[in-house]
Amino acid sequence: MTRVFSGIKPTGHLTLGNYLGAMRRWVDVDQHRSDALFCVVDLHALTVDHDPARVRRLSRQAATLLLAAGLDPQLCTVFVQSHVDEHARLSYVLECVATDGEMRRMIQYKEKAAQERERGGSVRLSLLTYPVLMAADILAYSADEVPVGDDQTQHVELTRDLALRFNQRYGHTFVVPKATTPQVAARVMNLQEPASKMGKSEDSGSGIVYLLDEPDVVRKKVMRAVTDSGQEVVYDREGRPGIANLLEILAACTGGNPEALSGVYESYGSLKKDTAEAVVEILKPVQARHKELCADPGYVEGVLRDGAEKARAMARPTVDTAYRAIGLLEPV
Ligand code: TYM
Repeated sequence: MTRVFSGIKPTGHLTLGNYLGAMRRWVDVDQHRSDALFCVVDLHALTVDHDPARVRRLSRQAATLLLAAGLDPQLCTVFVQSHVDEHARLSYVLECVATDGEMRRMIQYKEKAAQERERGGSVRLSLLTYPVLMAADILAYSADEVPVGDDQTQHVELTRDLALRFNQRYGHTFVVPKATTPQVAARVMNLQEPASKMGKSEDSGSGIVYLLDEPDVVRKKVMRAVTDSGQEVVYDREGRPGIANLLEILAACTGGNPEALSGVYESYGSLKKDTAEAVVEILKPVQARHKELCADPGYVEGVLRDGAEKARAMARPTVDTAYRAIGLLEPV
């Protein structure tokens, strides 16, 4: 059976981008057709300036939202990264296969490091080695597929390179995974700045729809989305990024196709109105289930405890094999 692994980082409240780009496919497709693991990658949240209490709160919230969105612990494994030591164990060994040049070429590293410096902060070493930990997440479970949004494909490519290099040097140990991305909404853009990704770690919330935004807040954000000059509703990502983004969001929410939808609308206003309602509808069941789960924290904790136990048992043999293959002595 195909093994699928993916993760989400608790650095902010989860967004519509996370949902349409990744989570929804995990729920609708991946958990049904594969042996799937979904992880709240809390170690990754420590790579930038962070508040410990907030990371703990966001980790719990992310796990709750994954379940609220429909991940079913009877079908898949849901767990928290730091509960399974194998991630950090394997990450170190992969650091001995990766090069610093490779790390410095990563787009996200360049962007995030520049942001940190702009804020007058320093860049944590873990930000540079972030993609190695991500590779460890994936390779520890021998995942065949990694369902992600567009922004993570470079990291999955690097994971492939590291797996191939390790296998070549030290003998076959890792499955070489591939990224899968959705056809529509692989990169949902910020409603106020359609040239930038809708990212949960950004400071300003007005261009970002959060999964827990109230319906009226969602409506306001979508109605105020920056559009392009012109009146015609056409799907042109380069020339009309604001309208293209709304068409993609609407298409992803309604199961349509952005190009076909562009012919349906005569004004920006009606497109915005339908997009806002489609987003409100898609978030409604997730928010209702989230509320129920918040009233039952013991359930969520139980899922995470069982998930970590299952994940540990899956990762351990592969990480042990990697330790032996690279030259580490078996414990006595
Ligand atoms: P993260 O937490 O930024 O995002 C989680 C998932 O949501 C997707 N995504 C988007 N998709 C479309 N449009 C957007 N605006 C948007 N924003 C986010 C991301 O592509 C991702 O699939 N490094 C990863 C977490 C990670 C991971 C892993 C993922 C750590 N280890 C192993 C897969 C496998 C990250 O920061 O995702």
